[in-house]
Amino acid sequence: MKVINNKKLFIIVFLMFILSSPILAQTSAGGGDDLGSIIKIMVAVTAFLVAIIMWLVLVYSEKGDDAEVSGFKKFMQVINQRPPIEEEQNLLLDHDFDGIKELNNKIPPWFMAIFYGSIIWAVIYMVDFHVIGSGNVQEDEYAEEVRVAAMEREILNKSGSLINEDNVTVLDDAAALANGKDIFVKNCAACHGMNGEGLVGPNFTDNYWIHGNKINDLFRTIKYGVPAKGMISWQTQLDPTQIQEVASYILTLKGTNPPNPKAPEGDLFE
Ligand code: HEC
Repeated sequence: MKVINNKKLFIIVFLMFILSSPILAQTSAGGGDDLGSIIKIMVAVTAFLVAIIMWLVLVYSEKGDDAEVSGFKKFMQVINQRPPIEEEQNLLLDHDFDGIKELNNKIPPWFMAIFYGSIIWAVIYMVDFHVIGSGNVQEDEYAEEVRVAAMEREILNKSGSLINEDNVTVLDDAAALANGKDIFVKNCAACHGMNGEGLVGPNFTDNYWIHGNKINDLFRTIKYGVPAKGMISWQTQLDPTQIQEVASYILTLKGTNPPNPKAPEGDLFE
């Protein structure tokens, strides 16, 4: 009977360990990404192996005959130190409630170990985190995450991948406009003319625009295209910075009066 109880306790403690392992994996993952998932898999595999070993121990411990006490039983005896049932008489307290009696059992060593262990842990933790300060307290962890996020944001900003039709601005530096011209000649001139005078596509040198004359309008038209009218979407071929550059270049063409201009299309913008 006693063995079965111990067994149950053992299984419960072990299940708690397995269930908690994904949580541990999550907190230790930190950066997320590949490393995080590798750690998760490693924890899962380890938990699985430990489960098999524990299971073997349980099966094995059941087989041990009474004369020779198995290692597992001995272990349970050491951490529980429950007196044998014959001695319970000595532990009986003299109060009695409706026939229910109480034994003056000692607090089991496993419990005291956790109790003192947590006190020792608390001291170590306090010294480490608050006196030496080598560990990160929550506040520092938060500040660190904010710092990393700001860095990532800066990198994304520099790479231009955060530029979109809502926040795009007109570029006016020579290098960006030269890039824009390059992109225009390679990709757009076939339809809009070498000098933006218009061909299949509309003229960019007049004040007439079908989809608006703001940098945001141009960016949107170039990014998503107007497929029904023969203007394709460029977002898979040009990155946001390139779209910004070519759109800025197009805006410089206004009033350049190239030869063979295409007749105005769209609405007049001043
Ligand atoms: C296959 C021909 C073709 C190519 C190549 C092309 N366009 Fe167009 N584009 C058009 C047509 C046609 C329209 C008019 C769409 C409409 O009527 O709505 C247009 C419209 C536009 C407009 C909107 C003009 C307005 O009046 O509102 C912009 C801006 C534009 N194109 C930029 C570009 C850029 C930049 C490229 C190169 C990266 C490019 N286009 C390549 C055919 C083309």
